[in-house]
Amino acid sequence: MMVRPAVYPGSFDPITNGHVDIIERGLKVFDRIIVAVLENPKKDPLFTTKERMRMIQDIFAGQKEVEVRAFDGLLVDFARSQGTNVVVRGLRAISDFEYEFQMALMNRNLDPGVETFFMMPNVKYSFLSSNMVREVVTLGGPVEGLVPELVARRLRDKIKRRKKAKN
Ligand code: PNS
Repeated sequence: MMVRPAVYPGSFDPITNGHVDIIERGLKVFDRIIVAVLENPKKDPLFTTKERMRMIQDIFAGQKEVEVRAFDGLLVDFARSQGTNVVVRGLRAISDFEYEFQMALMNRNLDPGVETFFMMPNVKYSFLSSNMVREVVTLGGPVEGLVPELVARRLRDKIKRRKKAKN
């Protein structure tokens, strides 16, 4: 039987428990999830592409049905290159809708055969974003329960090293 993966794209700077929740939900519907890490997000990322990928690989270590790839260029082209026309995105709240709607329709305009599937994360993650997690850690606040433990550690290390480099 042919196994069609779904692509789950994002900046993942860093991956949060909300993203993890979407990947786990996605696996209940799709045989394989390809987590597609955007190489050059518009904003200067805190973590390099390799570091962002490594965190996701470590979280899903031993789970062959989760693959992590970097991508650049158009998402629809990347999805096709992976042999799929399925894109998964998380919707946390109404506020996400407009951006996601625009993006899904732009992707459809670029490639009418690509379908975007929206999944809602657990409501306890509906306020959670990578931006806020980065800000809280930078200001010395706790992020336990919001990101996997290994992400919290790497965030604290990264911020410490950045502060040292500045002094
Ligand atoms: O986690 P993010 O930053 O909201 O993810 C955004 C992402 C990576 C899904 C989006 O920026 C993207 O798909 N970029 C690739 C460029 C592209 O295909 N643009 C056209 C559709 S808007």
